[in-house]
Amino acid sequence: MLTDQTVAAAARDAGIDVLPRYVEETASTQEEARALADAGAPEWTVVVAGHQTAGRGRLGRGWASVPGKGLQLSMVLRPPLALADAPVVSLLAAAAMAAACREATGVEVASEWPNDLVAGGRKLGGILAESRVEGGRLVHLVLGIGVNVSHRQEDLADEIRGTATSLALQGGRAEPEAVLERFLRELRRSYRPEDEGFVDAALERYRAVCVTLGRSVRATVRDGRVVEGRAVGLDERGGLLLERDGERLIVSFGEIFHLD
Ligand code: BTN
Repeated sequence: MLTDQTVAAAARDAGIDVLPRYVEETASTQEEARALADAGAPEWTVVVAGHQTAGRGRLGRGWASVPGKGLQLSMVLRPPLALADAPVVSLLAAAAMAAACREATGVEVASEWPNDLVAGGRKLGGILAESRVEGGRLVHLVLGIGVNVSHRQEDLADEIRGTATSLALQGGRAEPEAVLERFLRELRRSYRPEDEGFVDAALERYRAVCVTLGRSVRATVRDGRVVEGRAVGLDERGGLLLERDGERLIVSFGEIFHLD
């Protein structure tokens, strides 16, 4: 069970010396972490909630939680990276969470570019990365992550029942705190943004869990245009490289729909 103690132990065991904040219920951990970041909270400030009443997803969507069944967390990071390299951190977090879920439950978890976590072809979780930028410089990054852990079919809202899943529904047995502990450990180990070669190493880890590569996709890009092509790789900043009729284009933001 997620409690003050289990959350604190997970952070400590991961080598994080900033005391995490656990709340049984909040509107959104993302709002809490953002307020803490704006007030100067240090890197590795982690906020975990047992339940959110106004959880937010990417692209203005919501994120539903069921008390005690999922893992909802947000963390403050202050990577000394160029703004254009910041998306790589959320790709690394996706790779770390995929590994954590696998270690905790044995369930094979992958990522659909850029920030979805999937298992058995269904959505298991997602990452919302929000940054504060001042004078063209990245001040902080708030990474919000939600994972469905012990949900049963009836715990999933009607509108996502056909497309969503949980670790339990995929045959894995774990509690949210077991996934949290492994995730923090994985990320603590691999997040070394001051190292030369960090961006390449993070991309390497992400490629290994990304199931979008090699697939045909339809992408809605920032200006609302829809493009289709085969995902042939990631560029040096984590953008998705699409190929169509011998031409290549980079999708650096947006929503992907897998066509095969
Ligand atoms: C997505 O797939 O659209 C991203 C979902 C992100 C959900 C997490 S849960 C913890 C954090 N707090 C929020 O309000 N959202 C993120």
